[in-house]
Amino acid sequence: MSDVQNTVNTVLVVGAGTMGNGIAQVCAQAGMTVTLTDVSPAVLERGMQNIGKSLSKLVEKGKLDGAAKDATLGRIAAAGDTSAAAGADLIVEAIPERMELKVALFRELSAKAPAHALLGTNTSSLSVTEIAGAATDPSRVIGLHFFNPVPVMELLEIVRGLTTSEATLDRAQAFATAIGKKAIVVKDFPGFATSRLGVMLGCEAIRMLEQGVASAADIDTAMKLGYRHPMGPLELTDLVGLDVRLAILDHLHREVGEQFRAPALLRQMVRAGYLGRKSGRGFYEYPDTKK
Ligand code: CAA
Repeated sequence: MSDVQNTVNTVLVVGAGTMGNGIAQVCAQAGMTVTLTDVSPAVLERGMQNIGKSLSKLVEKGKLDGAAKDATLGRIAAAGDTSAAAGADLIVEAIPERMELKVALFRELSAKAPAHALLGTNTSSLSVTEIAGAATDPSRVIGLHFFNPVPVMELLEIVRGLTTSEATLDRAQAFATAIGKKAIVVKDFPGFATSRLGVMLGCEAIRMLEQGVASAADIDTAMKLGYRHPMGPLELTDLVGLDVRLAILDHLHREVGEQFRAPALLRQMVRAGYLGRKSGRGFYEYPDTKK
């Protein structure tokens, strides 16, 4: 493979939700040409708006100048289909956490992508090895797990599936460096390093709320002031999405064990549509985003 093909210049991000639009933004900020796609035109439009807002925030803070913002936006194209896969050096999947959707997508895109393309999944807990099994060449599939808000969080958790090749791992690490993230490499085990620990803290916080140990605000203050966490575990669950955390817990409960059984309160809140910031209500209320 030539060096040109080894370097990631062109990226297709599939899924324009919170994670997908953040991933598209950091790739474009690093000078890559990006196509962002989603099956929902509304989600795609909101995703592009979020990128604009996030870049404006960076300009306000003096971290980016106006010309760099315009150049970054100019490198991102919104598309209603995945035809850009044919010219991509890297495809990053950031669609909902449902194995059947991911398997179908990797089957389709790996057939369309060039033979050198790196195929990344932003899954936060599902098996990278199982997703890779759907691809024409499983050795080029790897977990690229980003964190919300993507433009701010420094970590990229690289997940090596059983079939991921050494060359793919090397290229994923070079990609992390190119977009300014610090990478850790973990084995493909349910929940990896981050989600397994992160959901457990959130889960215990919800159980404590159920048991009446303290109010939501006091549980969050405990971890912010007592442990210097930037956000409390309940605030963070609102940021990530209660539905997202419930899906991770259910998966880890099945795959790892009883310690990950989801609290009844979490399930009830998801059933009520209290999904966190994005729905206007979770453990706290967000009047500005109320639907
Ligand atoms: N784009 C650009 N800049 C942004 C931004 C965005 N989307 N969001 C925040 N910022 C910037 C702010 O402008 C601010 O910049 P300065 O430091 O220059 O002032 C900085 O980030 C901090 O933001 P705020 O002052 O608004 O608020 P804060 O200090 O409370 O920080 C936070 C916000 C970065 C979200 C911080 O609270 C934090 O780090 N929280 C923890 C987030 C976390 O744990 N994320 C992981 C979730 S798990 C996950 O994503 C993976 C999964 O699989 C589910």
